[in-house]
Amino acid sequence: MTAKEAILSTAGLSKHFSGVKAIDKLDIAVKEGRIHGLIGPNGAGKSTFFNVVSGMLPATEGEIRFDSVNTTNLPAQAIARMGMGRTFQAAKMMPDTVLENVMSGMYYYSNTEPIRSFLLQPRVFRAQEREIRQKAEEALEFVGMADSAQRWAGELVWVERQLVQIARALVLDPKIVLLDEPTSGMGLKETEELKGIIRHVRDRGVTVVLVSHDVSLVVDLCDWITVINFGEKISEGSPKHIQSDPKVLEAYLGEEEQHAES
Ligand SMILES: Nc1ncnc2c1ncn2[C@@H]1O[C@H](COP(=O)(O)OP(=O)(O)O)[C@@H](O)[C@H]1O
Ligand SMILES: [Mg+2]
Repeated sequence: MTAKEAILSTAGLSKHFSGVKAIDKLDIAVKEGRIHGLIGPNGAGKSTFFNVVSGMLPATEGEIRFDSVNTTNLPAQAIARMGMGRTFQAAKMMPDTVLENVMSGMYYYSNTEPIRSFLLQPRVFRAQEREIRQKAEEALEFVGMADSAQRWAGELVWVERQLVQIARALVLDPKIVLLDEPTSGMGLKETEELKGIIRHVRDRGVTVVLVSHDVSLVVDLCDWITVINFGEKISEGSPKHIQSDPKVLEAYLGEEEQHAES
């Protein structure tokens, strides 16, 4: 694949929930090596886009291509194994250590369940286990959480959960990661720290799709931005272009008015 070719694209992608057009005929092309922002007011369809593209929800219509393969409606595990990592808006941790949580990113995507493979092929299992542990430690190191490996995941504060989620997505050595609102609930200092990590992920050669409600974060970080509202693309371009597009301003002002009324 040549540099800057689309690694992930959708054509006419729609997702309807009994009448609600959460995603409506979206054409999005994410070029390889970029930090691609996906923004839009609350309820615009950003998380739904991630859910459909990652195979967690079936598409209503349209096509998804990832790494030159038509991945429309493939199972989430198959898409993950092709090299797609993701995080969730609400980070759920397993009641286990931080390291185990990051390692689970690998188990989920590997062919066999740990217990099954342990019973059938203990030696292979132990070798795999070592490799997974090492990868998980590297991923934790990468997000600056190496010292927390043995902490209980339940005691992590919000920002730490986001970092652990990113480590869990990276443990797969993905080609692309989808980050859903990674800075929500964070202060300025933590947001700056996370920005550095996201850039670092991109510099490692991993394409990033960043969903965020925070326009200034996305403008700062992204090479290219797609703006959606009510499931439709309303604008697309460089951060500069987005900032001066009246349609974008209008969408966000509309949201503020809704807040003011409620
Ligand atoms: N599982 C679901 N069932 C029904 N409606 C949903 C579901 N997920 C999302 N929606 C609806 O789809 C629209 C887009 O939601 P979402 O993708 O979460 O928006 P965003 O992430 O941009 O805030 C909203 O109207 C939301 O209520
Ligand atoms: Mg969302």
